[in-house]
Amino acid sequence: MAKIVTALKPESLEECSQFLQSGELVAFPTETVYGLGANALDEKALEKIFLAKGRPKSDPLIVHLSGMVQAESLTEMTAFQRQCFDILGNQFWPGPLTIIVKASRYLPKIVTAGGDSVALRIPNGETALKLLSLSKLPIAAPSANKFGHVSPTKAQHVMDDLGNEEKLIILEQDHDCKIGIESTIIKIMEDYEIHLLRPGFISTLQISSILQKSNISFSLKRVKKTIVSNYSEDEKLDSPGQLLTHYSPNIESFILADKNKKNNISADIFLKSLLRKTILIDFNMKNIEYSEQVLKYYDLSKSGNNLEASKNLFSFLRQSEIEQNAEYILLPDFSEENDEELSAIFDRIYRAASGKYVAIN
Ligand code: TXA
Ligand code: MG
Repeated sequence: MAKIVTALKPESLEECSQFLQSGELVAFPTETVYGLGANALDEKALEKIFLAKGRPKSDPLIVHLSGMVQAESLTEMTAFQRQCFDILGNQFWPGPLTIIVKASRYLPKIVTAGGDSVALRIPNGETALKLLSLSKLPIAAPSANKFGHVSPTKAQHVMDDLGNEEKLIILEQDHDCKIGIESTIIKIMEDYEIHLLRPGFISTLQISSILQKSNISFSLKRVKKTIVSNYSEDEKLDSPGQLLTHYSPNIESFILADKNKKNNISADIFLKSLLRKTILIDFNMKNIEYSEQVLKYYDLSKSGNNLEASKNLFSFLRQSEIEQNAEYILLPDFSEENDEELSAIFDRIYRAASGKYVAIN
């Protein structure tokens, strides 16, 4: 069985650090979500991550660092990558940004899924940083959930997914992950281009403006991926986490189409009579008119605060899964919002609902 230890005790951090050094798995909190960590230089330890998560080996891992110097031995950056990496790392780390650059040929292939690039991040959050510096290792860590399931923002979420692991320590802190959705991922191409692979709380606007200030000439593209609905091992995806069905709860979930929407997207009819078996997850009290008719009503943020909303999303999805008699989840629609933080949250909502829209009738 997995065990939970508290980060409040220094001996827990010591135990976790030694566990990592001896090739075992430790789930630890970051400011975004919990990661399932292993020594990024130990192939056998890395194998355990894929086994525990049920994750295909074609999906590469993010390597977490305690400082930028650690990147040296893990990468072979081009001049353009080096320039952007230094500027962005100095500006946004520790923080919710993952930067992909050319990998060192000495890195275990399992980290990069056989590709020639590696994803790096210095996470924010006292617990993560303490563990990283204590272990003196680069730590590869995907989100600590079963593959395709909702990412964990509390130690108990990790326990619910991975509790049966024979050897796993879950490091618990005294608060939930502050951001609650995963980091922004950008890939710095070998020359001139930067691709946004996953939206998050560091916006493309922030990234562009700091590079412009440093007189870097670049073009930043949001890579609109053909999102595929089924996973195939040999599918070559830029960022395999961009699958349509990802972050998905085990209850049928839909986006409740915004009534004021200008674009006519096709929405199926959701019968009013189903509301009593439904959990309605709202934002800014938009759909509060249905709150009395549903089985349970949650609001991501009554006051419309983005950070509060992102912090609550995965937790509400997981709470919905264990609600007795719940058969459906309805989620809020931000598809027409221009705000990058809301778009990042909606990216997860869209996938949780596998892109299905409904309208109540
Ligand atoms: O906030 C986060 O990023 C969290 C915390 C734990 O740091 N981690 C996380 O990892 O979300 P994961 O594995 O659940 O998602 C990372 C995504 C995956 O979709 C993976 O395919 C993509 O990053 N990725 C990793 N390395 C890559 C690479 N070299 N090229 C392209 N995509 C990569
Ligand atoms: Mg994940």
